[in-house]
Amino acid sequence: MQKLSTCARPPWPQLLGCALAVTLTACGGGGGGGADTSSPASATTLSGTAVDGYLQGARVLLDVNGNGLPDAGEPTATTDANGRYSLDYSQVSSPLAGLRVVVTGGVDTDTGNAFTGILTARADGARSGQLVSPLTSLVDALVAEGFSLDAARTRVASALGLSVADLATDPVAALASQPALYTRQVALQRAVQLLASAEQGSDTAQAAQEKVLRKLASVIVAQNSPATVGELVVRANLSQASAGRDLADAVEDALEEALRSQGGRASAKASLKAMDQLRLEMESSRDYSLGRAATRLDERNGGSAYSGLAGGTGKAEAINTFTRRAGTATTVSQPASTAGRLLASNCFQCHGTGGVGGFDRIRGSDAAEVRDYLRKPARNDIMAAHAQGYTSAQLDAIIAYLKQ
Ligand code: HEC
Repeated sequence: MQKLSTCARPPWPQLLGCALAVTLTACGGGGGGGADTSSPASATTLSGTAVDGYLQGARVLLDVNGNGLPDAGEPTATTDANGRYSLDYSQVSSPLAGLRVVVTGGVDTDTGNAFTGILTARADGARSGQLVSPLTSLVDALVAEGFSLDAARTRVASALGLSVADLATDPVAALASQPALYTRQVALQRAVQLLASAEQGSDTAQAAQEKVLRKLASVIVAQNSPATVGELVVRANLSQASAGRDLADAVEDALEEALRSQGGRASAKASLKAMDQLRLEMESSRDYSLGRAATRLDERNGGSAYSGLAGGTGKAEAINTFTRRAGTATTVSQPASTAGRLLASNCFQCHGTGGVGGFDRIRGSDAAEVRDYLRKPARNDIMAAHAQGYTSAQLDAIIAYLKQ
């Protein structure tokens, strides 16, 4: 058995995590296949990108009858890892322009958290490159108030000091040149979700968010000079409007600083994830004070990083702390063939986790040594008992995987 490996050794618990992630993607990724905005759109597909961070595995619905629900005959698709989707509307008889695209579910790839919000946009006739984002959701809320799509876009853009073209710009793709486009949208989305949670009552989370967006639309209609997200949010006629403003301001501040820091994008993701924990803490405790939520999380986790991020002193240090913590959980690269990986994940429960031995001792050219345990009595050898639990074909698959 080789004792030392020159190959890179992935940490095992993370390999296990990856195995799960791959299984999930395999289940949820079907509908998004081929959604490539760079390829010419076919005559009857509408393709685009769903972004807060990119939403992966989210359901995209072309809501033909406008009731917000997926009904028989309404096209749906699933987003890929870059938020891309392709809706086949060949069976839809109404004209595309003006129909609503509704995105729910999936995972926010910036944070790894489930996306519990709703993003919407109106089809405008273009069949590719459509963007569904927190800003298009706001535009959609103005359309629901009776504005034309063009008028709604102009209003939203000017209320936030943006151009209409900015509303159609992928904020993640434009992060390097326009960081504020990204920080503003993620701050807006967090504030909307927090406010919706405070108002939810017996509504679904999505319905509550749509109500909040309608309140924000009214603010925008009454608005005559550019404002920050926080300034818009605080003017909404909602019980926790000032908590929404505090959260939006803190998210923007933290992300701006994170993006400027050495950690850049990685720091921004780690900080956003921590801000989401702060938001969830407020939502679940129903105590809408950012400062108190931060204190509670700091008490639970040790340190003062959440307070630093929430606006206390030491923001830069807090950002470093979250970046460092996230750094220990980065995904690892996988060998070319992942066949056999799920079976092999059983092995990782002991090897490399402090159970016994190291990953390097069972991988590589000597991987076949696991077969030696088929001849040992299983009664008093845990490894023999384990090996004898597999069929021969399964062991072959495991060995082939570990040999790579
Ligand atoms: C329940 C814990 C456990 C699991 C799960 C497990 N092993 Fe083991 N493994 C052991 C122990 C304990 C030994 C040392 C046994 C001995 O010395 O006889 C061992 C030894 C080995 C060895 C001999 C290597 C050496 O350095 O001594 C190989 C090869 C091996 N395991 C492969 C595997 C493979 C492949 C899997 C997955 C199919 C696996 N093991 C799953 C506990 C486990």
